[in-house]
Amino acid sequence: MRIGINRIGFATARYYLDMDELSAHNQTDPNKYRTGLGQDKIAICPPDEDIVTLACKALSPIAASRDLSNVDTLLFATESGIDQSKAAGIYVQKLMNLPKQMRIVELKQACYSATAALQLARSYVAEKPSREVLVIASDIARYDRDSAAEATQGAGAVAMLITQNPEILEIEPISGLYSEDIMDFFRPNHRKTPLVDGRFSTTAYLKALEGAWEHYQQQGGLADFKALCYHLPFGKMGVKAHEKWSKLNHQTPDFSLLDAGLIYNRQIGNSYSASLYISLCSLLENREDLAGQRIGMFSYGSGCVSEFFSARVCEGYQSALFHQHHQAMLESRSPLRYEQYARWHTPDDGEFGDAVFHDSESGTPRLAAITQHQRRYQP
Ligand code: CAA
Repeated sequence: MRIGINRIGFATARYYLDMDELSAHNQTDPNKYRTGLGQDKIAICPPDEDIVTLACKALSPIAASRDLSNVDTLLFATESGIDQSKAAGIYVQKLMNLPKQMRIVELKQACYSATAALQLARSYVAEKPSREVLVIASDIARYDRDSAAEATQGAGAVAMLITQNPEILEIEPISGLYSEDIMDFFRPNHRKTPLVDGRFSTTAYLKALEGAWEHYQQQGGLADFKALCYHLPFGKMGVKAHEKWSKLNHQTPDFSLLDAGLIYNRQIGNSYSASLYISLCSLLENREDLAGQRIGMFSYGSGCVSEFFSARVCEGYQSALFHQHHQAMLESRSPLRYEQYARWHTPDDGEFGDAVFHDSESGTPRLAAITQHQRRYQP
């Protein structure tokens, strides 16, 4: 049975910080960010945008174009959760009028958890082919201001409808795994921003890629890919990953396999769990020759868990994409001055009392207020 991604939509914040603005503040050469890290812009959320509203916006083109009454499971992947108990997907269910007959859970393992959700969804649909699963990954990547990681912030969400006989991407059965207990990036409960050993995290990422790729090959997985997507904490990490993967296969790196997958992320920054799948959108919407071809996918979540898996692009996949919707969203964004970004960097989360949020004109749904510790969304 063919199982995979039938529809995929993504969303990002309406505002961004240009790397020129950040470099002027930091008195850093902008080429460090543009060339050295491979980033032009990073998406910045206003206080009335959160992982729930981003998730709804990612899901909206799917919900507008397709009946979702066969969906009985929503898997919400995030590492920037808004509640220690309640799954963010339950807010999405209400705001998007999804069926009440659903199971909804939140999954966490840094940037990796959307891939776990995708594989769980695949197994579930294999067991119950008439059912459909929504996998949503939504994250706001926020580091301390004036830290080395600040230029790799960002925000975004992806929604994927997983079904039998998919129209975009069939997920293949083999996957290579590599996990190890390391402290490259983590966020204890008492912290709003993560603790990150940046240089160590990049070497840990590459070591995990090697381990997952070896495991993939041990199971008979082949390297005949027409394109590869890697988790993208920043664009240059994808370049380093592709160099590593090529070396492991005794090949000269062919960057034409990578480039289309970098386009959107270069303008959005890191979106943690959503990042790999925004790269997938970028690839599918910016290459026209992928029908019937195989794609390699590498998912990495600090801490760490990683997975290398593969997928085959479906015939006629272009007609199931939301290319124009995504392009219009990216083009309609507005730049922020550094001072405005700094004010939005650490929004009031109602920890010390009620909070009411100004309408940032990011559209609906929006987080209107937090009162009595409860999030109040305007549909
Ligand atoms: N012009 C062009 N390039 C320049 C330059 C200039 N003027 N100045 C510096 N560069 C280059 C450097 O040579 C370097 O390139 P290489 O890596 O190819 O050598 C690049 O710009 C970055 O420079 P630094 O290494 O000096 O940058 P830094 O140490 O200040 O920060 C970082 C880099 C450590 C990755 C930091 O951004 C960070 O901590 N990021 C967050 C952690 C992260 O994203 N880790 C990735 C792996 S973990 C993961 O993937 C999970 C996740 O999502 C977090």
